[in-house]
Amino acid sequence: MEDLTPNPKDLDPIETASRDEIEALQFHRMKRSLKHAFENSPFYRKKFIEADVHPEDLKTLKDIAKFPFTVKQDLRDCYPFGMFAVPQSKLVRIHGSSGTTGKPTVVGYTQADIDHWANLIARSIRAAGGRPGDMLHNAYGYGLFTGGLGAHYGAEKLGCTVVPMSGGMTERQVTLINDFKPRIIMVTPSYMLSILDEFRRQGLDPRESSLQVGIFGAEPWTNAMRQEIEEAFDMHAVDIYGLSEVMGPGVAMECVETKDGLHVWEDHFYPEIIDPVTGEVLPDGEMGELVFTTLTKEGLPMVRYRTRDLTRLLPGTARSMRRIEKITGRSDDMIILRGVNVFPTQIEEQILKCAGLAPHFQIELSRSGRMDTMTVCVECAEDHAAADARALSAKELAHHIKSVVGVSTRIEVRDPGGIARSEGKAKRVIDNRPKE
Ligand code: DLL
Repeated sequence: MEDLTPNPKDLDPIETASRDEIEALQFHRMKRSLKHAFENSPFYRKKFIEADVHPEDLKTLKDIAKFPFTVKQDLRDCYPFGMFAVPQSKLVRIHGSSGTTGKPTVVGYTQADIDHWANLIARSIRAAGGRPGDMLHNAYGYGLFTGGLGAHYGAEKLGCTVVPMSGGMTERQVTLINDFKPRIIMVTPSYMLSILDEFRRQGLDPRESSLQVGIFGAEPWTNAMRQEIEEAFDMHAVDIYGLSEVMGPGVAMECVETKDGLHVWEDHFYPEIIDPVTGEVLPDGEMGELVFTTLTKEGLPMVRYRTRDLTRLLPGTARSMRRIEKITGRSDDMIILRGVNVFPTQIEEQILKCAGLAPHFQIELSRSGRMDTMTVCVECAEDHAAADARALSAKELAHHIKSVVGVSTRIEVRDPGGIARSEGKAKRVIDNRPKE
């Protein structure tokens, strides 16, 4: 794979600024943003007054801890437009997150918000090794989901030729990749695996494809999965993170030259890690829930938004802005099985160790008597489909999960294609336990 380390002169000056410069900018912007939220969002005015805090109380960056958290339920309670800090006429775009039940959470952007977002995506694509003039195949879903349009505007801003493919029609995805020869693909990692299967189904060698860089996010994925995809396509695979409430993709981005976690674009978002139970701020390096305060958003400023994502803050490497470690999962996706905490990413890691299995899986939870049981449903690799090979793979996986994760599981090895494919975010857990 080609060395894609960028030329420092191509970076935004703030990407390599000193910590003092970054923090000075953050403080200036945070103060302005808190004032904007207090003065223009009735929701935040009320929240600040109830918590007995005022934007003037921010004397240092750390004082943000005095301010109350914002949670997803707040957005639901304000559905659809009650949290915005500008009149609707000033918004140029609405997005929403699908949510599993009921109404979506709605977010809105002013023109300045869209411009910042495009710049941050452009910066992110560049961090992945993208350059002006590259052809970029965008397979994130277009629509209310922030992935498609978010990536699209940023790719154009960098000067790429965008193929606005969206998700789905896997056969055509492969045809267009073959015919147009993009250098970059943006897609969820789980859907990239479906594209990989389709390459093989069509008798094409994925390593011969034009793709050199994959920018994968919107769901948790492991370093083991990175290796799998990098080897299969002979391409770089880097991680992009974001969430609609805070902006969309491009809140944090991994650099291709280090692949060591994601740099938070700290000139626009102030991260904290908190203890998810007590809400206490934890020092850098400790594992906890990621919280963001937006520093430049006009339409929907967010003060201490609790993401539910679990990670830790690490010092900068390729850039001076701090990194988050690859996300293990969301606290909502954590399975507590007979007292042991299990994340789907831990299961993914173990599956990828087994040569006889393909990386498509789902976890089914059920209850027999008072006992919760977990079944890992996973596909066999094409060349390990015989009954004895499957039995061996099942045994191997159960052993890895027991010894590394610490739980006993049932393993169901299915035929190739036996696990439902997603065209965006994969659904990893099916919970059949009775609701309490
Ligand atoms: O998934 C935005 C996005 C689009 C990010 C495309 C990256 C690429 P939401 O639909 O609001 O927004 O979902 C946000 O997805 O809180 C995480 O739990 C999860 N997530 C997003 N990126 C990653 C990642 C988009 N790189 C939620 N690793 C977040 C792990 C991720 N989880």
